[in-house]
Amino acid sequence: MRDFRVTPIRNGTVIDHIECGQALKVLHIMGVGEVRSTISVLMHVPSKNGGWKDVVKVEDRELDPREVDKISLLAPNATINIIRDFNVAEKYKVKMPEVVKGIVKCDNPNCITNVQREPVDTEFIVESKAPVILRCLYCDRIQGDFTERLI
Ligand SMILES: Nc1ncnc2c1ncn2[C@@H]1O[C@H](COP(=O)(O)OP(=O)(O)OP(=O)(O)O)[C@@H](O)[C@H]1O
Ligand SMILES: [Mg+2]
Ligand SMILES: [Zn+2]
Repeated sequence: MRDFRVTPIRNGTVIDHIECGQALKVLHIMGVGEVRSTISVLMHVPSKNGGWKDVVKVEDRELDPREVDKISLLAPNATINIIRDFNVAEKYKVKMPEVVKGIVKCDNPNCITNVQREPVDTEFIVESKAPVILRCLYCDRIQGDFTERLI
């Protein structure tokens, strides 16, 4: 069922079924500072299953795999819809990786990933998906609010 609360887009990406309250973080991941296309943000709209969701619609833009991985951590139930010529040409559900590599900074200032002069890619084990709990593979630390440390 289409919602027509915003003007349909010809080409672009709709990130649907975003966990309520996470839309602004999704925008941040996509680099809101350097937006060069039209973006519509729907917050707290009714969802088919009776709950509430956020939706982000971006014109003339697709997501790279790194962005999709980040979104999966904030909104594990999000679906990515690629719009071509006003229609949903592709749809997939984000999938949270088992190991989160290089997209979150460790919150332990003494972690090797933070002190090494040669940068080391961070790596975290996903200990739980709901809620998302990440443990650093290098220093073993369970991460505090990683959504503030996406890189
Ligand atoms: N041309 C368009 N412009 C803007 N948004 C669109 C366009 N086409 C589809 N959408 C949005 O993309 C999402 C997916 O569209 P679709 O028609 O597949 O809805 P759906 O059947 O409800 O999908 P789902 O089962 O994933 O919720 C919806 O949020 C819809 O509003
Ligand atoms: Mg729907
Ligand atoms: Zn660490």
